[in-house]
Amino acid sequence: MDIKAEISDKLDKPIALVGMMGCGKSHVGQILSNMLGCPVYDSDEIIEQLEGMAVSKIFETKGESYFRKIEAETILKLLESRTPSVIATGGGAVINPTVLNAIKEYAVSMWLMTDIDVILKRVEGDVRRPLLNVPDKAARLTELLRVRRPLYAQADIKLDSNTNDPDALKDRLGRALYEYLNLR
Ligand code: S3P
Repeated sequence: MDIKAEISDKLDKPIALVGMMGCGKSHVGQILSNMLGCPVYDSDEIIEQLEGMAVSKIFETKGESYFRKIEAETILKLLESRTPSVIATGGGAVINPTVLNAIKEYAVSMWLMTDIDVILKRVEGDVRRPLLNVPDKAARLTELLRVRRPLYAQADIKLDSNTNDPDALKDRLGRALYEYLNLR
C-alpha cells in the first residue's frame, strides 16, 4: 500500500487544522485533501457563503460575537459528519471551549505552528483579517498567541509550518500522520 492508501485506511474521522491567522490552514487543507482524497472545508469560507459577505464585513456590521456564534455552529456541524475530511478552522475558533472540546473528541487535531515574523510576512498588505487591522500587527499577534497557545497546544499533532515550500510541507504532513496513526 502507498502512504496515501495507508493513512486513508486508518483515518476514521476528520482532521481539524488549528492555528493562528497566516499559519497556512487553507494551504495545508488543500494539500491534505489531495493527499488523502477527501473533501476539505474552510469554516471562514462557509460563513462567508452563509452570510453573503466577507468575514471583515461581518465583524464590521454584526460584530465579533455574532461571527463567533456562527463560527461555532459551522464547525460543530462539520464535525458531526464523523467521516474523513479536512476542516480548516478560523484562528480564533478554539477560544470557544465547546468548539475546542468537540475538535478534541471528534477529530484528529493538528496545530500548524508558525513564528510571528513568518506570519507577519504572509499577512503583509492583507486587509481581509479584521483583527489585524491595527497599526502594530506584531503586538496584536503576540497578544493573541499568548492567549491561544495553551489551547492550540492541546492538539493531537503539532506541525512546524514555517516553510513555504509545498514539498517540504507534504513530507512533514505525511510523516506526522504516519506517526500519529502508528503506521510503520
Ligand atoms: C480570526 C482568524 C480568521 C477569521 C477571522 C478571525 C482569528 O481566520 O476567522 O478573521 O480570530 O484569528 P484565519 O485564521 O483563516 O485567518
